[in-house]
Amino acid sequence: MKTNDIGLEVKDTLVLVEKLNKLLANYQVYYQNLRNFHWNVSGPNFFELHAKFEELYTTANESVDEVAERILTLGGRPFSSYGEYIENSSIQEAKEVHDSKEMVSITRDNINTLLDLEREALEAASEQGDEGTVTLMSDYITAKEKIVWMLSAYLR
Ligand SMILES: [Fe+2]
Repeated sequence: MKTNDIGLEVKDTLVLVEKLNKLLANYQVYYQNLRNFHWNVSGPNFFELHAKFEELYTTANESVDEVAERILTLGGRPFSSYGEYIENSSIQEAKEVHDSKEMVSITRDNINTLLDLEREALEAASEQGDEGTVTLMSDYITAKEKIVWMLSAYLR
């Protein structure tokens, strides 16, 4: 059995690295969508949404770095170019969105896509006894579920 630097089986971690890279790619597009909304939001909810999108992209920025560095810790190479992100992201780039509620709705959908990927990664990590990745994904999932609840309340 070939193991990586942290003692996990390489064959298993390759599967996980692929999942984490997909998560990373989706995260990057989500991040840019939030910047788009932060900049272009307008209307009576400008101040709260402008600030909320900033809060979300700041958290996303930190998570992107954590996911990429987790991939490196597992012995993989994180996707590092826009081309790789676009190619591997199921989250679509938001183009010109004018309605602030639609921005919130897209954000919620994007977060739900990330949630699916995180649950998938958690399951794979759990099967491989990769407690570090399990904990990381678990924290992300808990935080995102709360945000989805808040965004849903906003949209009701
Ligand atoms: Fe700003």
